[in-house]
Amino acid sequence: MRKPIIAGNWKMHKTVAESLELVNALKPLVAGVTNVEIVVAPTFTALAFVSQVVGGSNIALAAQNMYWEDSGAFTGEISPLMLKDVGCEYVILGHSERRQYFGETNETVNHKVKAAHVHGLKPIVCVGERLEQREAGIAHDVIRDHIVHGLAGLTAAEMLESVIAYEPVWAIGTGKTATPDQAQDVHAFIRGLLTEIFSADVADQVRIQYGGSVKPENVSELMAQPDVDGGLVGGASLRADLFAQIVKH
Ligand code: 13P
Repeated sequence: MRKPIIAGNWKMHKTVAESLELVNALKPLVAGVTNVEIVVAPTFTALAFVSQVVGGSNIALAAQNMYWEDSGAFTGEISPLMLKDVGCEYVILGHSERRQYFGETNETVNHKVKAAHVHGLKPIVCVGERLEQREAGIAHDVIRDHIVHGLAGLTAAEMLESVIAYEPVWAIGTGKTATPDQAQDVHAFIRGLLTEIFSADVADQVRIQYGGSVKPENVSELMAQPDVDGGLVGGASLRADLFAQIVKH
């Protein structure tokens, strides 16, 4: 039985003070929730502060990116050790915004995913097609590429400690959500790939989140799909009331 996982990706939003305000508002709203794993992903500068607030609670901490080396002359980068140091349990990797604006490729994502596992960080690996790829009928091919190359070389045990987020790029920040059928189609396709690469047993246990304009109004029908195991929420995670409604849908 897969425990649903709902994560808020705060992207490049909120100062430390604003982040603390948000997480302090969220914490009591979701305090009783035990049937959903709750994750928040603040900016790097807010991680250590938010960590103090969520420590010992039912809210886990995630970073939005990292580099794969432990330390060294890599100006501007953050290592897995540093994320562990501030209490991160998860790290979002391969987000489409990183692929689009910062040159991430399946290969760099794969380095990062492996490094996360070396340090006991659980990666949330993002995959998803762009609008023109969906219109050209190659959405499944793009996702196969993201999965096969992004997860190359992982052991079954590492795969079980990973989460996949399907985020169709055309649904991110656009208010245009994938229909439940569209999401289910791709989620089932991803689970099929995991069966091919790992095993039916592994595929059955890995959680696959949907991301792209998730809101209180659409979360229930998305989560009702058999292969949708959670959400990766952008805009609506910036408001404690909306994010709590999504968690408690
Ligand atoms: P929105 O919920 O704002 O569409 O963002 C989705 C997303 O990219 C989460 O990682």
